[in-house]
Amino acid sequence: MGTYSINNFSRREIANMSAALLCASVLPSRLIAAEKLLRTPGQILGPFYPLKELPQTSDLTRVPGRAGRAAGQILNVMGRVLNLKGEPVRNAKIEIWQANAYGRYTHPSDTNPAPLDPNFDGSALLATDSEGQYRFKTIKSAAYPGGPNSMRPAHIHFQVSGREDRLVTQMYFENDPYNDSDPFLNSAGRKQLLIAKLQDPTPEFEPDSKLVRFDIVLYNG
Ligand SMILES: [Fe+2]
Repeated sequence: MGTYSINNFSRREIANMSAALLCASVLPSRLIAAEKLLRTPGQILGPFYPLKELPQTSDLTRVPGRAGRAAGQILNVMGRVLNLKGEPVRNAKIEIWQANAYGRYTHPSDTNPAPLDPNFDGSALLATDSEGQYRFKTIKSAAYPGGPNSMRPAHIHFQVSGREDRLVTQMYFENDPYNDSDPFLNSAGRKQLLIAKLQDPTPEFEPDSKLVRFDIVLYNG
């Protein structure tokens, strides 16, 4: 009739199905497990998303028309944008914005009395290449007050837009004294995915700079 039960299948059909299920549950799942990534946790946009159009630059340490260089530890931040299958997300739009080395945003709503840096605007618009890679040079932002009795750990804001997905998140730094008490970082499941290491530079980079790797995983890309 219209409904099937196990009694409708022959012993041989069941044996074939069992073999197929065994393959499906053992072999491919091991392969899939090797490729399957975890989506990067989202974080709040925050109050300081830039009001002005973001400049298309991969060097935030200099402001066009000014001779000086931004104060602070130079960072070379790089990584890949991938989907859950580990495939590169090409031509993804990456917007970044951050505080300066004193913990101050250029945003007019930032009431932190820490000084502005005339050589640092703190935002940029990038795109990933054909392998999903991105790279930019910036300075390490400082922690800043998140309220009367709390400090936000140093972080860089990211908004990443692929063809199907958009992710708003923040990248933090290993060993920041405020990481453990920050409610936003600690609200993220798998928060370790948001905490990057500062590594010594390879010869192609400035000797006093640090390297920071931060891969970003979207659902589909
Ligand atoms: Fe922030």
